[in-house]
Amino acid sequence: MLEQLSQLEKESLATLAAVENGDALAEWNKRYLGKKGALTQMLRSVGQLPKEERPAFGQAANEVKMALEAAYETKAEELRLAEMAQELEQGALDVTLPGRPIGPGHLHITTQTLRQIYAIFAQMGFQVYESPDVETDELNFELLNMPPHHPARDMWDTFWVNDQVLLRTHTSPGQIRVMREQYPDPIRVILPGKCYRYEQITARAEHQFYQVEGLAVGHGISMTDLIGTLTEFAHRFYGAEGRIRIRSSYFPFTEPSIEADIDCIICHGEGCRVCKYSGWLEICGAGMVHPVVLENGGYDPEEWSGFAFGLGVERPAMLKYDIDDIRLFYENDLRFLRQF
Ligand code: DAH
Repeated sequence: MLEQLSQLEKESLATLAAVENGDALAEWNKRYLGKKGALTQMLRSVGQLPKEERPAFGQAANEVKMALEAAYETKAEELRLAEMAQELEQGALDVTLPGRPIGPGHLHITTQTLRQIYAIFAQMGFQVYESPDVETDELNFELLNMPPHHPARDMWDTFWVNDQVLLRTHTSPGQIRVMREQYPDPIRVILPGKCYRYEQITARAEHQFYQVEGLAVGHGISMTDLIGTLTEFAHRFYGAEGRIRIRSSYFPFTEPSIEADIDCIICHGEGCRVCKYSGWLEICGAGMVHPVVLENGGYDPEEWSGFAFGLGVERPAMLKYDIDDIRLFYENDLRFLRQF
């Protein structure tokens, strides 16, 4: 066997020396190093040797393999240089040709959707305010009325950086930041940004996604203002003339808490796959800012009141543009992106 091996090495190196172009080189590689190549076959047959001969043979075979691979690389480089030299000689490289044009790009579907949302809320007097993606437990949970062992924390599967630091699971911590910065002025802001959740990725759920938080704080702000704002948004964003439905819900940072739905924009209430045959589509969670949260932001709940909401971004875009898989937003496949 060892003899065969050294024979193979000699033969293959001799053949390699005679190789003169890329095709022949690929052919050589296949013949000796490929899956069904001679050397690979020989390596496989090691099992047939008597036990005591196996280690020596294995080692020798690996050495040959490395030698052949190295010889292959050297040859490939040699051919490449030769080819380049030849092209230069023949003047095949015309440096006066114009470059290949880079087509103009356009905004990502998520950015487009965000900008539509900004425009609608800007018309209603909301400013855009940004807050960080990496947050503290204090802002993401505690100051939003969720002390360390609050069971509602389970609603947000969290990526922890350490005990105190996390990737924000929602844009709500921005509420505290804005309040602390704006006090004692009234507030009307939206807070767009990416959120992160430790979730299984499926066609309907990503571990990263955008939200747009809304916050209004002032004197005498009521649930009516909240419902009016959401209704107006839904009509402008979805072009829906339809109704809004308010359901009661629970969030630790609002009291009372609601969820808002609109008539399904696909079937207009008839029932279809998209609305899971309910006739309604959820647009956001919302509510009146909890007194504890107002206080944590520096506003006296006896004097001030406010509403807040949290809108998704990808989900509404999926509905509006009939996109059936949320993963597409993050795959950077130009065939998808160019459609919008
Ligand atoms: N932060 C919530 C979430 O991510 C959404 C939400 C609900 C935001 C109610 C709000 C709110 O501002 O009032 O699930």
